[in-house]
Amino acid sequence: MKERNEIEELKRKALLSSPPKIDSEFWKEARVFCTEKIKNNITVFKNRFPGPASVNNIYPLISNTDWTASFWPGMLFLAFESTTDEFFSKTGEALVMSFRERLDSRSETETHDLGFLYTLSCAAPWRLFGNSLARETALMAADLLLLRFHEKASIIQAWGNLEDPAQRGRIIIDCAMNLPLLYWASEETGKPRYRDAAALHIKTANRCIIRKNWSSFHTYFFDTETGAPVRGNTAQGYSDDSCWARGQAWGIYGNALSFRYLKDPTLLENARGLARYFLNRLPDDMVAYWDLIFVDGPEERDSSAAAIAACGLLELSAALGASDADYQYFKNAAYHITASLAKSYTTRDIPESTGLLLHGVYAKPDSKGVDECTLFGDYFYMEALVRLCQNWKPYW
Ligand code: GLY
Repeated sequence: MKERNEIEELKRKALLSSPPKIDSEFWKEARVFCTEKIKNNITVFKNRFPGPASVNNIYPLISNTDWTASFWPGMLFLAFESTTDEFFSKTGEALVMSFRERLDSRSETETHDLGFLYTLSCAAPWRLFGNSLARETALMAADLLLLRFHEKASIIQAWGNLEDPAQRGRIIIDCAMNLPLLYWASEETGKPRYRDAAALHIKTANRCIIRKNWSSFHTYFFDTETGAPVRGNTAQGYSDDSCWARGQAWGIYGNALSFRYLKDPTLLENARGLARYFLNRLPDDMVAYWDLIFVDGPEERDSSAAAIAACGLLELSAALGASDADYQYFKNAAYHITASLAKSYTTRDIPESTGLLLHGVYAKPDSKGVDECTLFGDYFYMEALVRLCQNWKPYW
């Protein structure tokens, strides 16, 4: 792996010592581009869901079965908050029933991604509009997610059936973003068990999944009988000992969000270490390669990792507070990353595209969604813009 030298790091620090020179009109236009595309997509998607990654920059339309389905209503709610146009919120709320049916029929629910799915599709419309079906459904999803907790190992199993030997005891760094559903469920019900499981999971995960140099494993196995950590490996990264860019971004944002609920300062230190590593491995335009083992050359970028990291850096810098030495550095970095996406990575010149952001990577080792729009990249790009432009209360 190419090591970053001191001069490169100093250059990076200098670039990030001030925000990009950009006026409020630029951010406004970036948001209008997103809300117009989303409005148009409502008529294109109708009652179907966009798949996780585009094909030639156009999303295939599928039923509500993928882990990514909720990024579509999530974007609709962000568009509503950007415009106050009820066309967006009504369309998003109408999808609650689809997520309820998915849960009732247990259709593709053997996954920790119940957190992603039900935070955006149901907890968000409860928070925003007091939708009681959405609240009830999100709480049911939290109960189902809690069943994936292995007591002995103190972890939430990521994928598949709990008895499947290939998946039993496996966690992935992405799970940090599924925990807010559990924190929310404890707040709603007054029952601590959801929050307790989430707090134990993030503690165990951080102990094993974050390496000494602040890079991260994508996935990690535990022995569920003894609780012992077994080994780390990758699923979507370049190699077992490399650092998958989106995983690192999930780790930054997920730790900062857990801090929001648990107020444990070690979570902020974890987010800080992951963030510094991420920022030190970026190319000049601040949009990460799909694996942080690459810092230059022809490999693909992952615009989704950039968008997620921008949101995480904003959450992290706010949690650290203005007196922290890294506050301005992380905040400026979030602005630079989002500005770079807005300038050079949108589908502005491809009007037929149904995506917002070009150049994402879903799963390079499986040749899935490589150099395509990704639904999660689109959602977090929009979230970053909303965070930069208004005082936004997170859905997470
Ligand atoms: N959570 C799965 C992914 O980021 O691809």
